[in-house]
Amino acid sequence: MERTLCILIGYVCGLFQTGYFYGKMKKIDVREHGSGNAGATNTLRTLGLKAGLCTFLGDSLKTVAAVAIVKLLFKNNDVVDIIVLGAYAGMGAVLGHNFPFYLNFKGGKGIASTAGLIVSMSWLTNNWILTLLGFLTFVIPVAITRYVSLGSLLLIAGFLLEVIIFGQGGKFGMSQLSLIELWLIIGTLTVLAFMKHRANIIRLCNGTENKLGKK
Ligand code: G3P
Repeated sequence: MERTLCILIGYVCGLFQTGYFYGKMKKIDVREHGSGNAGATNTLRTLGLKAGLCTFLGDSLKTVAAVAIVKLLFKNNDVVDIIVLGAYAGMGAVLGHNFPFYLNFKGGKGIASTAGLIVSMSWLTNNWILTLLGFLTFVIPVAITRYVSLGSLLLIAGFLLEVIIFGQGGKFGMSQLSLIELWLIIGTLTVLAFMKHRANIIRLCNGTENKLGKK
């Protein structure tokens, strides 16, 4: 019951499509341009740097907001519970972002929302190395290749790996059962992100993926 409520809270927060609304203010639907995605990369591609940054911030902060609501709502719960419940809220936020019911379930690919989950997990586990590693696994490949999709996939796969390594190392102070639940949540998000990036992966393999800075 608690878990379902957390996913629902996340989903509602995730519905706020920053890029879509930013585009609407400029009288366009970003989903009809570039890659057809409503996320930060395509908003940047379509409307420029300010729009891309605002979208990234809005889409990541909505996950942090969902986790903060859950933390407040379940403040009397055990810290370990809050970490798992926060992860469910983050999963809900990614689902709301990727599949907004009011846009015919056509949203983004959930990377900025996942970045918000990484920051939230750092906050809940007091392990800011997760955020630092997330930043590096995204920025370094993008700086070298200019493929945002590659950075996005490495960010989320890296996050799963980091949670496995740090969790096993006892840094989160969680029981094996809670840890497995956390891995399953983040593992599901990783699979979802790779599925959402199917077309990008094909283009990356063909050498035809859009590079940052190109329309
Ligand atoms: O976060 C989405 C990014 O990884 C790819 O976006 O628009 O190039 O498909 P896009």
